[in-house]
Amino acid sequence: MQKKTFPPGEYKKDPGKFITLEGIDGAGKSTHLCGLEKILGERGKTVIVTREPGGTSVGEALRELLLDSSRAMHAETEALLMFAARREHLDKIILPALARGDWVISDRFTDASFAYQGGGRGLATQKLDKLEQWVQGEFQPDLTLYFDVAVEVGRQRISAIKSADRFEKEQNEFFRRVREAYLQRAQRFPHRIKVIDSNQPLDEVKKSLEKIILSICL
Ligand code: TYD
Repeated sequence: MQKKTFPPGEYKKDPGKFITLEGIDGAGKSTHLCGLEKILGERGKTVIVTREPGGTSVGEALRELLLDSSRAMHAETEALLMFAARREHLDKIILPALARGDWVISDRFTDASFAYQGGGRGLATQKLDKLEQWVQGEFQPDLTLYFDVAVEVGRQRISAIKSADRFEKEQNEFFRRVREAYLQRAQRFPHRIKVIDSNQPLDEVKKSLEKIILSICL
């Protein structure tokens, strides 16, 4: 491979990339997020790790509202709040980091709204398309890792770790629709969304993840 040289004063940092992690609850995103951060860090990248809903002060306040199982809300209210948190997240964290040349890994982004509010709650995709266009225009992640797991496996994993939030209290049928919506999006955007079979043992998932990252991003 040819080595890049820059005349003094003209050094340009390689541009950072925006990577998002998706999956139904219990798919193992959080575990693999740490692995991914490590792989990138070892290769000298400055990595910002963040999450949705959340990542900013306003976003984290909205997250608390959204996940609170004692607060029922209309599906459209839920979608609007997700996108409101996202607007803030783009403005305060994601876009400034990318402008500095940093890498950004976000635990969930807009695909989650299409999967949960679209697939899970049954909101019309056209409405979500409009919100997406309003909040982010044509901006999309460079890469989305979708950790695919059978609904029963995901449910078992979450019930073992913590008490359920408002989404995790939903029935298996809800998660089947969420998973189906994710898989449909992965089929629709095969260049951006890579499906990782998360039913495999942890080490195998890790290997698949590394292979994808090294081939696509580095
Ligand atoms: P999650 O990312 O799973 O965090 P934790 O690992 O702490 O449980 O929780 C966020 C929840 O928010 C998850 O159940 C999915 C939901 N969600 C949506 O419904 N729509 C969205 O657009 C986003 C970003 C998340």
